[in-house]
Amino acid sequence: MSGRRKLIVVSNRGPVGYGRAPNGERIARRGGGGLVTALRSLVTHHDVTWIASAMSDEDRVVAQESLEEPIAEIARDGSPYRLKLVAHDPLAYDWYYNVVANPTLWFLQHYMWGLTESPNLDLGLHHAWFNGYVPVNETFATAVVTELERQPDAAVFFHDYHLYLAPRLVRQRVPHALTSHFVHVPWAQSDYWSVLPDHLRRAVHEGLLANDIVGFHTERWRRNFLRTCEDILGADVEDCCVTYAGRRTLVTSHPIAVDADEFHELKDTEAVLEQERTIAAARPEFLVVRVDRTDPSKNVVRGFMAFGLFLRMHPELHGRVSMLALLDPSRQDIPEYAEYLAAIQREVRAVNDRFQREGWVPVDLQIADNFAQSVAAYKQYDVLLVNSVFDGLNLVSKEAPLVNERDGVVVLSENTGSHEELRDWVITVNPFDIFGQAEAIHRALTMEPDERRRRAQAIARHVEEHDLEEWIDAQLGDLDRMAPQTRR
Ligand code: G6P
Repeated sequence: MSGRRKLIVVSNRGPVGYGRAPNGERIARRGGGGLVTALRSLVTHHDVTWIASAMSDEDRVVAQESLEEPIAEIARDGSPYRLKLVAHDPLAYDWYYNVVANPTLWFLQHYMWGLTESPNLDLGLHHAWFNGYVPVNETFATAVVTELERQPDAAVFFHDYHLYLAPRLVRQRVPHALTSHFVHVPWAQSDYWSVLPDHLRRAVHEGLLANDIVGFHTERWRRNFLRTCEDILGADVEDCCVTYAGRRTLVTSHPIAVDADEFHELKDTEAVLEQERTIAAARPEFLVVRVDRTDPSKNVVRGFMAFGLFLRMHPELHGRVSMLALLDPSRQDIPEYAEYLAAIQREVRAVNDRFQREGWVPVDLQIADNFAQSVAAYKQYDVLLVNSVFDGLNLVSKEAPLVNERDGVVVLSENTGSHEELRDWVITVNPFDIFGQAEAIHRALTMEPDERRRRAQAIARHVEEHDLEEWIDAQLGDLDRMAPQTRR
């Protein structure tokens, strides 16, 4: 393990969000999504200042309090860290988050456009870019520069697609800053990036290449990035690095890990046990589980179509198997997400209307953000369905096998980052092939017990062995390799 470092972590969503209890007291809630979950353990081992966007009203109050200097926060495990929330202009933030980052960059990076009808990149996108994405990235860059003045020897650790411009803005003002950027989402191939107007796709790449390091979860996304740097910028590409505008950037792939201890602890907490009792009381002999945000990239609708087709193909299993879908309603201010949530509800209705009978409802759909319930479902599945269209990594496929108690089988999309690690022990599916997914569900349910156990144990062992410390050490090792370039 490397020694304790000074790190400035920068991400749009912070590790906590604030609200007010009915009695007026401030309450902190854990931030959702894979990025924040994975990074939280950084604060256990390092001296971390975390910079993130203020999102709620109470966050804005905290932002005001952290204007002069970051506030002192305590992580769940008792480790101290500093938090600086940045309050952006609300309109600029709306354009940045609800027009550029999610419906444009996220859609692009997950290949979510069909191209014949979408996207229509009208004036709105250009406007949102210059009046939303650019100023919000500038605000983040200013916050980072202020922190670097306070701690000149800290390394900066940017995260994800919200912040592609910030590294270059920091580099212009602090040329010797040591910066790394981890991209938690897939990297699309060059032709798909060419959907974005030239100056925008160049700005994304130039922003990232202002870092000393750019990291991805998998070799597949890393390769795509090397290629887009060459195709879009004409950069000089070697296997390890990209040279552009006189700078060399190391491009790495390190799949993120999960905090196994946290899940082992969580699974026996009263909150989880209570949820588990409810699930256990309602479940039939076999349970298929999925846990996701209601994001179109997660391919929830095709998952239900596949489950419906499986029921059509296997009437002998009617009444003996059901599907529990725990879906966290995500990004509902974006029309595509609201429409997708409606499509999810329609498809569940169609499957249930067709197959349900007295005492058996095939699909139990729960739209809520309930972490304890998710962990309880992780313990109870016989089959875990993860069929993402594309997914940078997919933490569910790593978390769930850690606590599962039924030797459950993982059915996993070949387009998830975690598939690169887990392919030998899962049933691989093509996320577009509904028939293939229906067959995979059946194969998983009827797999021999010894084979199920062998695969389930292998996944759990792999996840425990390749832990977060290994991932963090890999990032820090990369920083050490690149430090001489910047700090001459
Ligand atoms: C993914 C992204 C994160 C994001 C999370 C939740 O994990 O990689 O950057 O924070 O989804 O999405 P949200 O839009 O709610 O922050």
